[in-house]
Amino acid sequence: MRKSFLKTLERVSTYDFVTHAKKIKNKTFSDTDKTIVDDIVFLLKSTNLDERFLLYKKAAQIRDTQCGKRMVLRGLLEISSYCNNSCYYCGLNRKNQKAQRYKLSAQQILDCTDTIWQAGIKTVVMQSGEDAMPAQELASIIKEIKSRYDMAITLSVGERSQKDYECWKNAGADRYLLRIESSDPALYARLHADRTVQTRIRCLDNLQELGYQTGSGFMVGVPGQTLNHIAKDIIFIAGRNFDMVGIGPFIPHPQTPFKDAKTGDITLTMNAEAIIRLTNKNAWLPATTAVGSLEKDYRVDVLKAGANVIMPNFSPTNVRKKYAIYPGKKCIQESIENYKTEMNDIADKAGLFLDYSKADSLKEAYYKKI
Ligand code: 5AD
Repeated sequence: MRKSFLKTLERVSTYDFVTHAKKIKNKTFSDTDKTIVDDIVFLLKSTNLDERFLLYKKAAQIRDTQCGKRMVLRGLLEISSYCNNSCYYCGLNRKNQKAQRYKLSAQQILDCTDTIWQAGIKTVVMQSGEDAMPAQELASIIKEIKSRYDMAITLSVGERSQKDYECWKNAGADRYLLRIESSDPALYARLHADRTVQTRIRCLDNLQELGYQTGSGFMVGVPGQTLNHIAKDIIFIAGRNFDMVGIGPFIPHPQTPFKDAKTGDITLTMNAEAIIRLTNKNAWLPATTAVGSLEKDYRVDVLKAGANVIMPNFSPTNVRKKYAIYPGKKCIQESIENYKTEMNDIADKAGLFLDYSKADSLKEAYYKKI
């Protein structure tokens, strides 16, 4: 074990990212404190087994003391595979003529939500491509779910106007997931057609201002991404004090411009996950579907490196294959009937208790508002 490793681990764990973010607000990324970028890159590069073990152990300890030794569940519903966007990495992009498009009816969404409720899970995450669904349509569904169940509603339907976000919040939505994908303007532009990181950040600003419990994140290993980019994304995320942070390896999809690119590295993903825990001590961090979809299911490993959420898929089985963001998605074979055994098994292996509560944000800002 290198002495410098222990010192770096300590510096990153105790750094005040929120104050740093305020200091560099509206300035370019070159103003970012270089020492902390270097420290994070140093940790990201860990390949030595002893050092990795220590990094993950520290992350898991922070999770246990700040969030409890628990694994919480969120039921995922993929409500539409239509998308007007054309992100170069995503299989749902509008230019993919081979993508199979579907949209669940309000009744189907309510039926699936009932299944989630019956399974004992108290959060439904409604995710879709950017399908321009009328805000009112989704608002009615949100209201209906809220009137039937004491359940948290998370939305993950992309970039929309402040007005739409407000409409859904007023209807009863509690949480919103919108990954930054990359906080670096140039890399963001290389990953997305006709979109800017500024708009993305504005959406995140709107969501946080409206009082959503907000989640963000990024992929590890997208083409053009360096360790410096990852370090700066981690700094960006920690600085904004998100309630939830989700990351996962990039997996090339054959019908996208990035079809020949390499899959994101799992060690790098685990290192990034652990650093995100060190820097977002009481946030909810999912072991995402993407980490379960590689040559082996790495969700337990990622839980051991600081994650504490699993999002089992409750979309109707006949549409799951159609929601193909990337190939080989884990959930496609997962059956709803077997999910409890599987969740118990994952929690057991990760040394965590299964928690069926709503598990709202653990951040002070959230409790000040309610
Ligand atoms: N591989 C891994 N993750 C992907 N996502 C989109 N496409 C891919 C891919 N090819 C992620 C994005 C998006 C989330 C819903 O899925 O980060 O925000």
